[in-house]
Formats: sequence, C-alpha cells, structure tokens
Amino acid sequence: MTGVAGVLLGAGGDTTARALASYLANLLDHPAQLEAIRARPDLAGGAWAESLRRDPPLQVVPRRALETVGPIPAGATVACLPGAAGRDPGRFADPDRYDAFRADPGDLAYGAGRHGCPGTSLAALVAHHGLRALLDVLPGLCRAPGDRPPAQGLISRSPRTLPVRFR
Ligand code: HEM
Repeated sequence: MTGVAGVLLGAGGDTTARALASYLANLLDHPAQLEAIRARPDLAGGAWAESLRRDPPLQVVPRRALETVGPIPAGATVACLPGAAGRDPGRFADPDRYDAFRADPGDLAYGAGRHGCPGTSLAALVAHHGLRALLDVLPGLCRAPGDRPPAQGLISRSPRTLPVRFR
C-alpha cells in the first residue's frame, strides 16, 4: 500500500504542480480569457486542456518499438515529445498562442495506450477547484510588472516562479 501511494505521489505530484504553474501563468498572461472563465466556470475544462497542449509538464514520454517502423528498428527506445506535438502547426492553428476557447486542444499531455496516465480526472479536478479557490481568495490577482521568469526544464517543464500582484 505504501508503495502504491509512493508511485501515485511521484507520478502525480510534480506533474500536477508544474501543470498548475503553467496554467496560472497562461491565464494571467491573458486577463480577458481569465475574466471569461471567472464568469463562466464551465469554460475552465477547455482552458486547462489548452494549457496542457501548449505547455505540458512532461516533455518526454519514452516508448520501446516492438517492431521496426520506418527508420526505427525493433527494440529501439523512442522519445515521444508531447510539447512539440502540441505545437504542431499541421494539427493546431497558430500553435504557440494560448487560446482557452480552442475547439480541440487534444489530450497528448497524458500519454496514450495501456500506460496512459490514470490521473487525468484527478488532475483536472485539482485544476478546476484550485483555480476557483484562488480566484475567490485573490480576486485581483495579476502578473507583477517586470521580468517574466521563463519555463525551465527539459524533461519536466514549467515556470519555477510566478511573480504576482494582489490588487
Ligand atoms: C497534469 C497532470 C498530469 C500529467 C500531465 C500527467 C502525465 C502523465 C504521462 C505523460 C504519463 C506517461 C503516459 C504514457 O507513458 O503514455 C503518466 C503516467 C502516469 N501517471 Fe500521470 N500525469 C498527471 C497527473 C497524474 C496524477 C494526479 C496521478 C495520480 C495521482 C498520475 C499517475 C500516473 C501514473 C500511476 C502513471 C503511470 C501509468 C502506467 O505506467 O501505466 N498522474 N502521466
């Protein structure tokens, strides 16, 4: 039981924390979209999915090829890159833009198949209720003026700090 709890904490803790940091950064960068979500909480699910598309916390998902596929030999380890896939201009219009109302942001950030993430619903709940609680307590939350710390990390990626101001 302790082992299961450890796996879930390890797999779910850092990913969710990083995804929340990027989510909040994206919303604070787009105050009009944040206002729309504040007025219509039912839009928050799409806003969360869009943040995961544009800025997934896990940038590398490894796979082993069971058979030869084109130039990839059987047995080779392949690094799938959800961050790059989420910004594929062939799949998403204007992919670098954060658009909380994008019709189909996809769900690549959670991986796929037999070992796809089992924590998607829990993560979405945390995002939904966390954002609502934060906005209730700090209704005037906005970005602090000055430099914006960039996202950091190659495998796990998100802003490490997010300077804000309470009005
Ligand atoms: C925004 C939050 C999260 C993201 C972006 C995320 C992303 C991922 C990704 C990309 C994988 C690998 C999937 C694959 O190989 O196809 C994974 C696996 C996993 N995740 Fe999450 N995750 C999140 C939250 C959570 C939470 C909250 C939990 C549980 C409390 C969780 C538990 C797991 C577990 C146990 C695995 C391993 C599944 C397996 O190997 O069969 N994750 N996650």
